[in-house]
Amino acid sequence: MPSADTATGPAATTATATATTAAPRPAPSRDAIPGWFFRLDQEAFRHLLAAQSTAGRTGDILELGTYLGRSAVLLGDHLRPGERLTVCDLFDSEAGDADNAAEMTMSYRTSLTRAAFEANYLAFHPRLPEIVQAPTSVLADGRIPADSCRFVHVDASHLYEHVAGDIEVARAALAEDGLVVLDDYRSEHTPGVSAAVWQAVFTGGLRPVLLTPMKFYGTWGDAEAVRRILLARDWRAEGFTVDEDTIAGVPVVRLNNAVRSGAAPRSTPRRLLLDLLPPVATRTVRRALRALRDRRAGGRAR
Ligand SMILES: C[S@@+](CC[C@H](N)C(=O)[O-])C[C@H]1O[C@@H](n2cnc3c(N)ncnc32)[C@H](O)[C@@H]1O
Repeated sequence: MPSADTATGPAATTATATATTAAPRPAPSRDAIPGWFFRLDQEAFRHLLAAQSTAGRTGDILELGTYLGRSAVLLGDHLRPGERLTVCDLFDSEAGDADNAAEMTMSYRTSLTRAAFEANYLAFHPRLPEIVQAPTSVLADGRIPADSCRFVHVDASHLYEHVAGDIEVARAALAEDGLVVLDDYRSEHTPGVSAAVWQAVFTGGLRPVLLTPMKFYGTWGDAEAVRRILLARDWRAEGFTVDEDTIAGVPVVRLNNAVRSGAAPRSTPRRLLLDLLPPVATRTVRRALRALRDRRAGGRAR
């Protein structure tokens, strides 16, 4: 789970879901859907998905780990006639193992219901996607046809074994030149994701094409073509930084948010705390930290 508090976009703080029997109220705007999907990655998703459609590439879209729909709603925007979006999430179901259950309790349980996801999604699209309410490991049974997808977003469990399995599901589902996006590949609290991602690169033939602070973008197809598509856009003019690196001989684009002048760097404990908390709790912590900072500033002024 990446940070719900970043300088990269609107804070994911509006709760639309409660675990009650009342019908969940849909989010009034896309940015009000709680989650961890911010402007830079939103723009990268839009750019790459639109480029696929412009190039006449068709195929389904798959998301593993949907939460309340913040990224799924954007994925749904890009469906063309005949294409299908499938999302897979535990929602209010039990996790299959203790470590995954602990992750669910710590980060998602207080706010996540399938009904809340559905209400959010239907606020922006006329029909729900295909929903698989289960551990992502069920997708290994081949229910997603091989080579059927053009884009897969992996953002579910952060445990090494699960992510390694999710990457295999993505690989089987993706058509030639399809794209996989892997969340939290470099966060301090998700080393299992990093291990699975770089293992796929060095032993599984996955080619990195784009790195953002939150997400790794790769393909088992033509990485150079994706690089050209990425570099065709003037990201700098939109407030992003663009760098190019080479990893084991493979060129990779890096995008980040240009640092706003005057923005103070975050301390590590504060950052880690915000990384680990669900959006609603994050909002409370941010408010408390802001009040503490204001009190300290006031004290110094006196
Ligand atoms: C970080 S959130 C997804 C955020 C969402 N993609 C967004 O951008 O807002 C991770 C989601 O993965 C789900 N999840 C965790 N472990 C899972 C598993 N083993 N199988 C399926 N879903 C899982 C959680 O229920 C949670 O909704």
